[in-house]
Amino acid sequence: MCGIVGYVGFREAYPVLVKGLHRLEYRGYDSAGVALVNGNALNIYKTKGKVSRLERFAETQNVGGNIGIAHTRWATHGEPNDVNAHPHCSESGTLAIIHNGIVENYAVLKAALVENGYTFRSCTDTEVMVQLIEYVRSSNGCTLLEALQIALRQVVGAYAIALIDKNDPDRILAARRSSPLVVGLGNDEYFLASDATPIVEYTDKVVYIDDGEIAVIDRGKPLRVVNFDNVESTFDVRRLEMSICQLEKGSYPHFMLKEIFEQPSTIRDCIRGRINIEADRVTLSGAFDNRERFLAAQRIVIVACGTSWHAALIGEYLIEEMCRIPVEVEYASEFRYRNPVIHNSDVVIDLSQSGETADTLAAVELAKSKGAFIFGVCNAVGSSIPRATDSGAYIHVGPEIGVASTKAFTGQVTVLAMLALTLAREKGSIDREQYIATIRHLVQLPQLIEGALKLDGQIRELSKIFTYARNFLYLGRGYNYPVALEGALKLKEISYIHAEGYPAAEMKHGPIALIDNEMPIIVIATADSLYDKTVSNIEEIKARGGRVVAIVSEGDTVVRGIADYVLEVPQAPEPASCIVSTIPLQLLAYYIAVNKGRNVDQPRNLAKSVTVE
Ligand code: F6R
Repeated sequence: MCGIVGYVGFREAYPVLVKGLHRLEYRGYDSAGVALVNGNALNIYKTKGKVSRLERFAETQNVGGNIGIAHTRWATHGEPNDVNAHPHCSESGTLAIIHNGIVENYAVLKAALVENGYTFRSCTDTEVMVQLIEYVRSSNGCTLLEALQIALRQVVGAYAIALIDKNDPDRILAARRSSPLVVGLGNDEYFLASDATPIVEYTDKVVYIDDGEIAVIDRGKPLRVVNFDNVESTFDVRRLEMSICQLEKGSYPHFMLKEIFEQPSTIRDCIRGRINIEADRVTLSGAFDNRERFLAAQRIVIVACGTSWHAALIGEYLIEEMCRIPVEVEYASEFRYRNPVIHNSDVVIDLSQSGETADTLAAVELAKSKGAFIFGVCNAVGSSIPRATDSGAYIHVGPEIGVASTKAFTGQVTVLAMLALTLAREKGSIDREQYIATIRHLVQLPQLIEGALKLDGQIRELSKIFTYARNFLYLGRGYNYPVALEGALKLKEISYIHAEGYPAAEMKHGPIALIDNEMPIIVIATADSLYDKTVSNIEEIKARGGRVVAIVSEGDTVVRGIADYVLEVPQAPEPASCIVSTIPLQLLAYYIAVNKGRNVDQPRNLAKSVTVE
């Protein structure tokens, strides 16, 4: 939530900053702003609304200067308006700051500053930080770096910040605690950002700043990293593996549609090097290398949020079925605050696309402090969760930019399937036939998904019938229950239509009362071991006048005879099948949202990377 960008070098800073903001807009998009030092002027332009609004506003302004910082906001303290937009300026007008995170003790700090004569223009916690830094500097007569170090020792909360001083036009100071911060190293120039997407165009060399560290970024000098006690830290320079075309929409109208259609290739990337089809062998090395720890575990706990939590539920079914190890799935936000029982023999898997979700990261820290072994399954390379875990596996689906998660979900399920297979083989809890058959179906997944994507035109037409429905129910059983939850989440987040996912058999314990011919009911009824039972559930709906859209396996005749509409997907056994069934649900949500004129890639109130609790 909130994206920060910075630049110091020989280029004009403004175009670099604005382009960077566009790349980070998925993190928040309710206001945007930029601060530039030009000569001895500090120019700040900021406005409510999207980055494009900032650009229109800045067209007539002086945007010169080759050092600057910029911000795209997802509001926490203070409504989205021009005044609360970042950057925020100190009382004297000398310092400007941008911030991603939350200052928890801002009220106490603010009261003390007010007592010392400081006045505040905005309602933000961020303005408190910049005023505090200025106050410390002027009252101690110290350097800005020293003032920052002293101030940050007083700040409680999460932050990635960047700070510039109009009297020092060659330096950016940037610090982090619990919010991401990356510095890009160019030739005679530096970039900084919340993730690498604004940087990749200029350099592939980056440094991930750690918690409690400050990057001292000086024009023409080597990067320095120090902690709050001014002790120098060593750092690794990493190479980015991202490419620019992954960050652009290409010929697609939205990132979400591009990402849905990318799934055959993202699944190929996800399994590449992990499945050896000649040898009928799958090795997820992070799990294989730690197999003793996994196999000695009394239980595995998977913690996640949102879509990742749905993937975790499928992981639970897979690991329990193949490995016979008990698995619990927890919402990270509940887990971290409910004093859970965690043994040092437990394995905790943290599942997160962004690798930055604040609650999931806090769950990692909690489980770690109790001695559990922590395994991360993430997408964003170099993000905070993979760096905090003992071991893990990337899903390798490339940057996901649409706020609604699509390709990350299918990548997460695929990695969890490979993890279950790796452990099951080591444990001897899976018979060879099932092991080989499951591997072969994972290898076929890209073609199976291609088959499901052929439904695109049919779903586009079908979506027109349901555009104005006010409620949807999604039903599935077994592996398809989490798929139903995921289908409902996709619809509600991008179309703003109320939708609920339910285990199909639970319908008769309550939701059956909702059935009428107004509410579409999407049922996943593919050919699996629970098929007959799902068919009975469809009969129950039809007996009450409900309208059913069924996702069925190719060649199905039974459901075709009962349901109002059917969408046929290629037939596959679990877990490949539940991945394939997800595709039409993603497309249906997408087209309904488009029909309603919604901003599919940036739905209201949401942000891609939830770095606040
Ligand atoms: C839904 C969605 C969110 C995320 C959730 C967790 O489409 O994207 O529900 O799944 O915020 O995010 P990560 O996986 O980054 O931890």
